[in-house]
Amino acid sequence: MIKKETIDRILETARVEEVVGDFVQLKKRGSSMIGLCPFHNEKTPSFHVSPAKGIYKCFGCGKGGDSVRFIMDHEKYSYPEALKYVANKYNIEVEETEVTPEFKEEQDRRESLYIVSNYAAKFFETQMWTSDEGKTIGLSYFKERGFREDIIKKFELGYSPDDWTALLDSAVSEGYQQSFLEDVGLVVKNDQGRVYDRFRGRVMFPIHNFTGRIIGFGGRTLKTDKAVPKYVNSPESDIYHKSNVLYGLFQAKKAIRDLDNCYLVEGYADVLSVYQAGVENVVASSGTSLTDEQIAIFSRLCKKITVLYDGDSAGVKAAVRGLSLLYNKFLKNDLITLDNKSVIKESFDIRIVLFPEGNDPDSYIQKFGASAFKDFISKNEKELVEFYLTTVERKDLDDPIKKIKISDEVAEILSNHPDPEFRSVYIKKAAYSLNLDERSFLNLVNSKVRGLQKRLTVNEDIVLEEQKVLEEKRLLDTIAPDEYQEKDIIRVLLTYGDQLVHWEEMTDTYIGPYIITNLSDVTFANPLYARVVQYYHDELENGYLPKERDFIQHPDTEIANMAISMISSPYQLSENWYNMHNITVPNETDKLKGTVMGAIFHLKKKKINAMISAKQKEIQEEKDEANVMILMKEYLELKEVEKYISNYLGAVITK
Ligand code: GTP
Ligand code: MN
Repeated sequence: MIKKETIDRILETARVEEVVGDFVQLKKRGSSMIGLCPFHNEKTPSFHVSPAKGIYKCFGCGKGGDSVRFIMDHEKYSYPEALKYVANKYNIEVEETEVTPEFKEEQDRRESLYIVSNYAAKFFETQMWTSDEGKTIGLSYFKERGFREDIIKKFELGYSPDDWTALLDSAVSEGYQQSFLEDVGLVVKNDQGRVYDRFRGRVMFPIHNFTGRIIGFGGRTLKTDKAVPKYVNSPESDIYHKSNVLYGLFQAKKAIRDLDNCYLVEGYADVLSVYQAGVENVVASSGTSLTDEQIAIFSRLCKKITVLYDGDSAGVKAAVRGLSLLYNKFLKNDLITLDNKSVIKESFDIRIVLFPEGNDPDSYIQKFGASAFKDFISKNEKELVEFYLTTVERKDLDDPIKKIKISDEVAEILSNHPDPEFRSVYIKKAAYSLNLDERSFLNLVNSKVRGLQKRLTVNEDIVLEEQKVLEEKRLLDTIAPDEYQEKDIIRVLLTYGDQLVHWEEMTDTYIGPYIITNLSDVTFANPLYARVVQYYHDELENGYLPKERDFIQHPDTEIANMAISMISSPYQLSENWYNMHNITVPNETDKLKGTVMGAIFHLKKKKINAMISAKQKEIQEEKDEANVMILMKEYLELKEVEKYISNYLGAVITK
């Protein structure tokens, strides 16, 4: 590990404008500098560097961070690698510490989750290669399926014994904390408090992140029993987010870049067989439709995506529509930077291949070999729209209602493509193939294109930013009722936490500790915010008062990302929010007390209201008279608290 003092020196010495300036041409504009974002494709600069704050932020794609973060993102370096790069640039000598026995405990929580996942993978591997059960059941299964030893090792496949606590016992006896195993879902706790392994009697496929660390698992049963799910996967955790993972990406990324093409298959087994045959540019989406995050990953690696479907795969047609989002690979990124005139030119070349019935990429390549496989693909791959047209049944075109629906879908797919020439070629083809009037079909597509452009036409304008804030709030209120209040607390904590204030009724106090103490009875619903609060709390216990910088440079990249977007937001969330509630806070810093108290008490009020509703429900459902009395008493107590908070908010904040 790099010594803390060295890290501090690096972070203090590095000038963000110099580090970024090696890669991006920056122009001065006011107190900040701007340039074309290196992380997404743009023609008007929305990439801002603030030398004063030491951070960069792209208002187009949202990427942001400090100088070290920039090197991590731009060069795909790990944190220590990036630190060393920056140290080298400024001739700072890097001092490293020995890994101590306390290493395991000292690592932060995320690190522990990675470590425990890695331990599990090694455990499953050892079981498979050395235990009797592992060899006869696990290893022999993989061999029967035709997987070579080098591939089994490269993908770190393993076997989890058919036992309730094999992994749990082994990990705990080696000193790993049970809670970390629970947090990544390797073990499960049932309602009775019994703890047991999630994966039992399954062959194990570890899932790696982009840098090769293990973040989750897929486990395949070897039973043919239909009642048993074929695959069990790790649940979402702090290190595993399904939506931004592609199985096999770590092993495939180099080939994908080199060949500028990626094969997208459906299953773990397909990835292994195809890779083993020497076709290494292959990943699986693991049975789900592509997410925006996955599209963003592809967009950094290649321009062509070839989607390989099983011959008997259900729902291919439905999937194609979703795939058309790939046409607009910068759809999400360009949301803000687009002005009226610019047209997104970039698109993936998307091809679809349907394997013959009864075959999937796995069985096909095992049967016929790599060259027949590639041959089959090049002969059968169809451009996405073209593929869609071949799935249309002739008889559906005789039904006017169905025909309208189909032409609407094709128009929808086409409208996603940014290139007018591409559209015009395929408008002709589709009109011909669906037997439509070309002019009216063209009009249909164009109207959809305009609708899309309208949605994309958002200026980098504060007014519109604020509209986004309002929409965000509306959305959040439905999906996560406390999100807005929680977010506001976090923002206040980050921005003003280390400010010393002298408010009449109390002695000098720092805002951060004040907030933390006052919210010790509140549980944050958003796990990320909960982590921030926990971190803040822990640091205070250690006698350290976290600063804005500690969040911007936080090793937990999710925390860092959040801090950066909160701090560099052109709008002030809180002011908007107060305005919406007819509360005037002309300048936040002047009215710091109102801001802090408002944030604390509005959150408390939300939580109390939720408790009150829950209590009401309990009372309604309770049959026993005596219990109702007790519940009523609790209810009235809650109401008292609520009244106190409301009064407080009315008296102190509104003025
Ligand atoms: P084999 O049957 O061993 O060839 O596996 P496969 O990897 O080819 O799987 P298949 O084509 O049956 O399914 C494709 C993908 O869908 C799998 O790799 C899994 O990611 C997912 N999947 C399949 N069955 C299940 C299931 O029962 N539960 C879950 N959660 N996912 C599944
Ligand atoms: Mn299969």
